[in-house]
Amino acid sequence: MAASSVEGISQLLSKILKILEEEHVFDRSGEQPVVRFVHPEDLRKTMPLSLNEEPACDEEIETAIRQIVRYSVKTSSPHFHNQLYAGVDEYGLAGSWLTDALNTSQYTYEVAPVFTLIERELIEKTLALVGYPRIPQADGVMSPGGSISNMYGMVLARYKLLPEVKRKGLSGYPPLACFTSESSHYSIMKGAHWLGIGTDYVHKIKTDAFGRMEPSDLKRAIAEAKGQGRVPFYVNATCGTTVLGAFDPLLDIAAICQDEGLWLHVDACYGGTLLLSDKYRHQLRGIELSNSVSWNPHKMLGVPLQCSFFLVKGENALHKANYAGAQYLFQQDKFYNVTWDTGDKSVQCGRKVDAMKFWLMWKARGTTALARSVDQAMFCKDYFLKRITNRAGFRLVLSDYECTSICFWYIPPGMREQRETQEWWNKLYKITSKIKERMILEGTLMIGYTPLQAKNIGNFFRMVINCQPPPTESSMDYVISQIEKFALNLRMSNL
Ligand SMILES: Cc1ncc(COP(=O)(O)O)c(C=O)c1O
Repeated sequence: MAASSVEGISQLLSKILKILEEEHVFDRSGEQPVVRFVHPEDLRKTMPLSLNEEPACDEEIETAIRQIVRYSVKTSSPHFHNQLYAGVDEYGLAGSWLTDALNTSQYTYEVAPVFTLIERELIEKTLALVGYPRIPQADGVMSPGGSISNMYGMVLARYKLLPEVKRKGLSGYPPLACFTSESSHYSIMKGAHWLGIGTDYVHKIKTDAFGRMEPSDLKRAIAEAKGQGRVPFYVNATCGTTVLGAFDPLLDIAAICQDEGLWLHVDACYGGTLLLSDKYRHQLRGIELSNSVSWNPHKMLGVPLQCSFFLVKGENALHKANYAGAQYLFQQDKFYNVTWDTGDKSVQCGRKVDAMKFWLMWKARGTTALARSVDQAMFCKDYFLKRITNRAGFRLVLSDYECTSICFWYIPPGMREQRETQEWWNKLYKITSKIKERMILEGTLMIGYTPLQAKNIGNFFRMVINCQPPPTESSMDYVISQIEKFALNLRMSNL
């Protein structure tokens, strides 16, 4: 498989494609294992991972590639519901491979002429989707994930309030305060740490029974922060919270931000995909009133990881906040129109091309098919919810779900008639993690589980339905039958 010539590269890539096929990586029948779990110490011994002075021979390389594929999780299986992402769309994958083959950085038009235009097309489309003004009244950049996109929001908000911070740092200013719900993603805390705001200055806002931010508590917290001598500057609202998939009430939150003169960032990393659907986009009503937005098409929609947008209102806002003017890269006397060099809008220098995979997918499918895939995921969520509501043994955490995750417990037959004491609940939490262990060891299904500290509840399942591979009624039924089977085989006495 020597790859030092054109034929060599072609042979190597053909071989990899063959291995992917032989190992059923893209098999959607559901008949193949989702995972072949091996404990880390044993996997280390099984695989030829050591890096040596001498090159490995072709046979060793092929064996290694085969094992890598074999022991990796098959996220394209219809039985992978473990995360907010799953399998890839094939055009997305083709775009990803094309990007890697052309190996370049997104920072200048000089080295990424086509990709610059492709990213621009996508940003224009996503601005329109969100209901933001067009470039140059608004702008966007693709970033390496939602956590970073949320941090962009914080940086832009702070720059708007205190542009001098860019030169002088935070000393000399009263402490800043930001606000986010107790159900929001932990990247807001990380952002506060990284940007010197401090995690103690993130005010966690209470949520209602469905995990949505309570506007009255936001108002209370803003007043409280002011009373403590802090300067409120940033409110993060979430559309599609990580666990319950809740949508914060944007219209109410936007009104408070308007009154208080606060920056409103919307973390639509998960739920932003619903904007593609005429049927569900109303759940993000008010997003157009925000100052900035994060959206990850690599989550529900099935664009290959990573694909994340940060969008912001304001002419040249991104460039002004992030500009560093490196002369070796962004020479102003280049022979072409240098406003097409996007690198100084970003916190990164080299930037992976993330636009190509999404663009190719969108181009090949069209907006209509993307919208249909969202409707299908939501249809399957409703179907699954209906099937487990009032089904013996299943207990829902919430009676309804706004996005594509459903949270539930499974109560084995022996526990159903018992009194639900704290001890009973503790046992159920343990059973949840035991069922998960079984599913991983058998390798036939992957669903995540989590406690929810904000609501003071222990382990429950979070079943996520994504657009890729396209979910079906039978893939939903399969989950129910598998959970029932795993629970039946549990030895209750060990718990
Ligand atoms: C609501 C929400 N925001 C942000 C993120 C972070 O996205 P990423 O994993 O791309 O950093 C997540 C991740 O799950 C999320 O659920």
